[in-house]
This record gives sequence, C-alpha cells and structure tokens, in this order.
Amino acid sequence: MSVRFDGQVAIVTGAGNGLGKSHALELARRGARVVVNDLGGARDGSGGSLTAAQQVVAEIEGFGGEAIANGANVTDYAEVEAMVEAAVEKWGRVDILVNNAGILRDKSFAKMEIDDFRLVMEVHLMGSVNCTKAVWELMRKQNYGRIVMTTSSSGLYGNFGQSNYGAAKMALVGLMNTLYLEGEKYGIKINCLSPTARTRMTEDIIPDPKVLDLMTPESVTAGLLALVAEAAPNRYILGAGAGSFACARIVETEGVYLAPEQQTPEAVLADLDTISDGDQQKELFGGLNQTVKFVQKAAKALDVELD
Ligand code: NAI
Repeated sequence: MSVRFDGQVAIVTGAGNGLGKSHALELARRGARVVVNDLGGARDGSGGSLTAAQQVVAEIEGFGGEAIANGANVTDYAEVEAMVEAAVEKWGRVDILVNNAGILRDKSFAKMEIDDFRLVMEVHLMGSVNCTKAVWELMRKQNYGRIVMTTSSSGLYGNFGQSNYGAAKMALVGLMNTLYLEGEKYGIKINCLSPTARTRMTEDIIPDPKVLDLMTPESVTAGLLALVAEAAPNRYILGAGAGSFACARIVETEGVYLAPEQQTPEAVLADLDTISDGDQQKELFGGLNQTVKFVQKAAKALDVELD
C-alpha cells in the first residue's frame, strides 16, 4: 500500500534546509499541501530571511505541488498562531505537524552561558510546544492529527558539549508521552523521530565525506513519512539514519520490594544489580502505572488487601 497524503495539509518547521526541506519535498511529492516554515537564520539561530523557505516552495511548485512559505519564528506564539491561521485560511485544515526547526549552541557545560542554554531550550522545546498548541484544538475538532517531535540521540543517550540540546531533545520525549495520552481519543498520533543525517548541522562534526555520503536526509525522510502516515504508530521513538531504522524505548525493570527495615540507602546500593535486572522489564504507558506496580508489590509482600 503506497503512502499518500492527497487532500492533507502539513506544516513542516525549519523546512528551508536539511531534513525539514527533504521532509517537505517528499510530503508534497506524495500529495500533501505544505507550509514550508523557516526563519532562515544561521545554524546558531542568528539572522533570518524567507529566501530558504521560498526556494523550497519554488521547487515544490516546479513538480506541480502546492506549498506556501512562512517565516514564523517558532519561539513566537503569535507568529506561530498566524502561520496556522494562514494554512487554515488557504486550505481549511492541518493534518500533519512536523516539529523540525532547530539550532545548536554547543559548549561544555562548564563554559556554557545560561543564555545559550535557554535559547536552545526555547527553539527546540518551546518551539515544538508552540506549534503543537497552535494546531491541537484544530486536530481535536477534526478528530485527526499526526505530530512528530524531532528528538535526538544526544538527548536519548547524551553527547559531549550538548547539555542544552540534549535536555531540550529529551524534553520532547516527555511532551510526547503525555500528549499521546491526551490525544489518543481524538485520533491524534504523536511520535518522535531521532534522525542522523548529513546537513549543515553535522557537516563539520562528521568530517569524513564517505560517511556523510551514506547519511542522506532522504533516508531519514522515509522514516518521518511513516510516522505521519494514516497508518502511523503512536508514541514511537524512531531512530533513522543512513538507511537504518530502529526503535528507542524507555523501559522499567520489574524491580525489588524491600521490607520496611531494609528501606535504607545501604540496602538499595547492595541490591542495584537485582533492581536493574532486565529480565522482566517493560514499557509503561502512563506514570501512574509505576505507582500501581510499586503499591501492588508492597501489598503482596505485606499481605494487604487492596480494593
Ligand atoms: P538545519 O540547520 O539544516 O535545519 C534547521 C532549520 O531550522 C534551518 O533551516 C533553520 O533556519 C530553521 N530554524 C532554526 N530556528 C528556527 C526558528 N526559531 N523558527 C523557524 N525555523 C527555525 O538542521 P537539520 O540537521 O536539518 O536539523 C533538523 C532537525 O533535526 C533539528 O531539530 C535537529 O536538532 C534535528 N537533528 C538533526 C540531526 C542531524 O544529524 N542532522 C541529528 C539529530 C537531530
């Protein structure tokens, strides 16, 4: 079954360059009408112009697709609201939101200015919050929506010099976890994409051209399109790069119950191996599940009847 987006409207933020551009082009090739959003700034977020977005729109129109350029700064809620209004005015709906816009301000934490931490959080986390909030009510009313947060292996696993970026990227996973619970009954599916690709963001970090040649943005876009398709999964963290695809998940081990007299830091340290034993580890869909599991273990050990 081929994945098509005919009749659907997509907003892709940061679509003037790199991955966002590749996502926007392929969505349009497969029938979506696309808002190509880009502030048009430098990699560190400075400056701005609509040219990059306009060039992508011209490319889309060149193969007969439909697109509009938009220069909203995703950190500015009023500009983001106006972007969504423009899409609705032109096409009547928004089916897909790809939160992709991003910047880097890398430095070791010791040398990082608080303002560089804040700005990176603002663009990645609040930018995604702003765009998601601006389409949320619309998607609830439509009873349909597909939203992707662009996370990163730097957030999931850490990366030297990227405490700001990693914190923001992992925050997006937390955002997804709750929006999944709140959006499910309205037909809204939320997923995270963890890409790795040759763009201006990575070109000087990975200097080997042979490696970069394998890391095409288009290979990542295949994963992104799967996450916004009608048949998309929900609450999935898809790693995608150089043609490989993997699923990242947060799991919790079964854990151990310690009797009241053993509820001490010494006993916890002594039991770390058993606590982290992965044999029966599971994904938990909602924070309360952890509380229920712990309370049930205690009740069983202490022979307490629960209702
Ligand atoms: P890129 O620098 O080529 O593209 C990012 C785009 O976002 C730029 O066109 C920029 O103008 C735009 N942008 C930045 N701030 C904006 C704002 N406030 N409002 C609107 N647009 C804004 O970078 P790339 O590599 O394509 O990154 C896309 C996303 O993928 C980012 O969220 C990035 O963090 C993420 N990512 C990329 C990886 C890679 O290997 N390239 C690895 C992991 C995550």
